[in-house]
Amino acid sequence: MKSIVIVSVLASVVAVAFGQTIELGSPQNGDVLQTGQNFTVQVIQPESMASVFQIGIALSIDNCNNGVCPQPTQQLGDVLYAGPWAPTAHPQGGFYQNFTFPITDEFTKGPAVFTLSHFCLIGAGPVPYTEFRNASVTIE
Ligand SMILES: *[C@@H]1O[C@H](CO)[C@@H](O)[C@H](O)[C@H]1NC(C)=O
Ligand SMILES: *[C@@H]1O[C@H](CO)[C@@H](O)[C@H](O)[C@H]1NC(C)=O
Ligand SMILES: *[C@@H]1O[C@H](CO)[C@@H](O)[C@H](O)[C@H]1NC(C)=O
Repeated sequence: MKSIVIVSVLASVVAVAFGQTIELGSPQNGDVLQTGQNFTVQVIQPESMASVFQIGIALSIDNCNNGVCPQPTQQLGDVLYAGPWAPTAHPQGGFYQNFTFPITDEFTKGPAVFTLSHFCLIGAGPVPYTEFRNASVTIE
């Protein structure tokens, strides 16, 4: 038992030391997603990711009611993508992968929260690690 505690403490120290394990470049807070158009999700891998073993990501969008958006640990809404990701080096913007999705008529209009969920193993243990990035958007 004791070693499990130590490992999880180490893992959180590693997570802090490495800073973020993932960044959401797009969409950003305040973006408007137009029905009938594509929107781009840019998933960025920050540098110094040495002890992170990638599992995958999920990209999802959920409607907000009366200004209240569901927490990602409670409800993700429409899952647009779930699977592995393979960031590649770009001349500008470093390591990232873009995903493109059409905004169809089926999307409910109004305020929504876009969530990037990241699943990985972290640290020397390693231990499972999940984190979220989000952006408040509007579907029109
Ligand atoms: C959306 O992306 C698809 C696939 O890349 C493309 O075929 C289509 O023309 C795009 N639609 C718009 C409105 O840009
Ligand atoms: C990826 O998406 C971002 C944000 O929309 C954009 O700035 C960048 O040019 C895109 N990269 C490629 C290779 O299309
Ligand atoms: C979105 O992210 C911010 C900052 O991490 C957090 O405070 C907020 O609770 C998140 N909101 C949702 C709906 O996930």
